[in-house]
Amino acid sequence: MTFELKNLTRRFGDRTAVDAVTVEIPQGQMVGVIGRSGAGKSTLLRMINRLQDPSSGSIRFGELEVSALKGAALRRWQRDCAMIFQQFNLVPRLDVMTNVLLGRLNHRSTAMSMLSIFTREERIMAIAALERLGIEQTALQPAGTLSGGQQQRVAIARALMQSPKMLLADEPIASLDPLNAKIVMDALRDINEREGITVITNLHTLDTARNYCDRIIGMAGGRVVFDGPASALTATAVCEIYGSDKDGAGIDESMTSTSINIPAAAQAAGALQSAAVGTLAGARA
Ligand SMILES: Nc1ncnc2c1ncn2[C@@H]1O[C@H](COP(=O)(O)OP(=O)(O)OP(=O)(O)O)[C@@H](O)[C@H]1O
Ligand SMILES: [Mg+2]
Repeated sequence: MTFELKNLTRRFGDRTAVDAVTVEIPQGQMVGVIGRSGAGKSTLLRMINRLQDPSSGSIRFGELEVSALKGAALRRWQRDCAMIFQQFNLVPRLDVMTNVLLGRLNHRSTAMSMLSIFTREERIMAIAALERLGIEQTALQPAGTLSGGQQQRVAIARALMQSPKMLLADEPIASLDPLNAKIVMDALRDINEREGITVITNLHTLDTARNYCDRIIGMAGGRVVFDGPASALTATAVCEIYGSDKDGAGIDESMTSTSINIPAAAQAAGALQSAAVGTLAGARA
């Protein structure tokens, strides 16, 4: 089933956050969306799962015109494309198991949901999801007491409970240390490879996109300025995506790295690296 965005546009007042984006994504691809702060990455993902409505253009999944969905059909779509966020969006006071079971809510009647009645099958499914992510021992802990890396794994387990066709992730590793970032990216890739679920993830580090994604979409000023495999992402393409600073110097790719496999020679550049990541993050305003 092909997923297709055609001239997808979103304006906020006189600012165009996403500008006539046209892409076709076959089922099962792992896609990384990169670009500097304000490029429109989050707005693009939020339109795909209809957290935000497009100003114009279309979103099609096979025969389904996603941009026109309403009511129950819209909720079904939001169930089919699970979303995970940089800040995890768990309910911190509820235990991990309940947080994961909440991923089933759109599969059930309102009355059952209100009573938080989950079936034995759903509980087994939740445990299996937690086991798969290696955090079953946290099942009874309040989600808010877990580390960031564990919380993001809970969020992925909750997403799996939706039995999604597509997984959307908005900077899923931006708040994590490198080791947890790797665990989370490995989990997303595993889901992509084993279940054939399309993954579209916004990333602010190039090396992560290169290491994990079949395809990279580079955005600048709301438009797609690069679309291809990591191997085609040349220095020139990187410059076009991230722009150059006001002195005219291009962006050194290592500056956006969070890799834990930093070669010895690059170790010394660690401070520069974190400073640069800080700069990219600082440009977020
Ligand atoms: N709800 C909103 N109201 C007004 N402007 C918005 C809104 N959401 C986004 N924008 C604007 O749209 C543009 C794109 O924002 P978006 O959050 O999609 O960028 P991004 O690529 O995700 O950036 P970041 O890397 O910082 O997350 C920005 O100029 C932003 O200020
Ligand atoms: Mg964003």
